[in-house]
Amino acid sequence: MDYRAPKGTADMLPETARAWEHMQRTAQELFARYGYQPLYPPVFEHTEIFARGIGEATDIVSKEMYTFEDRGGRSVTLRPEATASIVRASLEHNLVPPGSVAKLYFMGPMFRYERPQAGRMRQFWQIDAEILGAAEPSADAEMIALLARYFETLGITGTTLLVNSMGDDACRPQYREKVRAYIREHSEQLCEECARRADTNPLRAFDCKKPTCRDVMDLAPKLRDELCRDCAAHYSAVKGYLDDLGIAYVEDPSLVRGLDYYTRTVFEIQAPGLGAQNAIGGGGRYDRLMEQFGGPPTPGLGFALGFERTLLVMQAQGLRVPAPATAEVYVARAQPEVASAVFELAARLREAGISAELDHQARSLKSQFKQADRLGARLALVVGPDELAGGEVTVRAMATSQERRAPLSGIAEVLQGLLAEG
Ligand code: HAM
Repeated sequence: MDYRAPKGTADMLPETARAWEHMQRTAQELFARYGYQPLYPPVFEHTEIFARGIGEATDIVSKEMYTFEDRGGRSVTLRPEATASIVRASLEHNLVPPGSVAKLYFMGPMFRYERPQAGRMRQFWQIDAEILGAAEPSADAEMIALLARYFETLGITGTTLLVNSMGDDACRPQYREKVRAYIREHSEQLCEECARRADTNPLRAFDCKKPTCRDVMDLAPKLRDELCRDCAAHYSAVKGYLDDLGIAYVEDPSLVRGLDYYTRTVFEIQAPGLGAQNAIGGGGRYDRLMEQFGGPPTPGLGFALGFERTLLVMQAQGLRVPAPATAEVYVARAQPEVASAVFELAARLREAGISAELDHQARSLKSQFKQADRLGARLALVVGPDELAGGEVTVRAMATSQERRAPLSGIAEVLQGLLAEG
């Protein structure tokens, strides 16, 4: 029996979990200002949702999915990303009737069978935002601005925003043929997989991280130079809006992203110091995905950001997540016979909005104080038979050990006053 968590997964221990909750709260507050609503799809879907949505020839679908047959003989897959699910759910529940726009966000775990390393996990956590029904380039710019603003709100600095356009059905097919021909011409210099991609999915060769493949693909024809008029106009309008907002970006003509559903705008935010796993968030437009799922033509776009990588950046930049007080007041008992009074008092304080802790291990008074210190309590209440008889308790300032008596009735207000004084 192996009592460790499976490779590529991690227990989110309290400090990390607090960071995740902080990131979620930050997203909830910020996304609400941009008009987003939450939508939580299931953790697994019918496999074809991802296979068709993300694309059979992508690494995610061909190598990384957690796919299995359920007991009913259906093939299901733990979601490797959220976009396909959100589009499926929007179609199923008619969330985007013709002419309307839906803005949705989601946060939760994703599953990809990847080679684990720092910032790359098999179960990882994403925050995802999607807009369905908006075709205008202003939506692209708003989406990109939201992602950039999110990292800024967390306090992260030094990121680079990359943008590119993937074209659409009018210009990409011809372009794909050009890349296919280019790959065939250079197949000797490319790795086996990239050479094979000429047949399956030539644009994926831009994703290869091998330096030799990169050098070859750097010189490949670029879609930027082959965009049709509409795509070129859209791309230039997106950049115009970003300029208006003062958002700095770098155009990266080899940014193709690892999913096949993209059309037109794609973008990625990279952070320094993360090595190869430097993309902390990315996304783009997917104007054909809803139709691919049998729905009406509905433009869409979105992004997802990764919790683990974002946390690594926050740690590297010394950004601390505020820890909520868990035991502002420690209610100590001087004698075992006052246990029930202590128990009730702690409950009363919690009701009054004060975080209070008490002893559940029959500790001596001295070790209760030690425990109060360990927990970071600022105040301790000492309850003894004498105090109780006089309708009072002793209030002890943990930092100075100074004590004074206070009436038991109205003690919550007294403590609130003291805690507010600092
Ligand atoms: P993605 O680029 O595959 O896009 O993932 C988004 C982010 O999730 C990445 O930038 C990275 O921070 C994080 N991430 C991805 N894989 C891992 C992993 N194995 N371990 C840790 N973090 C990881 C998508 O998922 C698209 N659904 C984004 C999107 C939404 N496009 C349109 N709408």
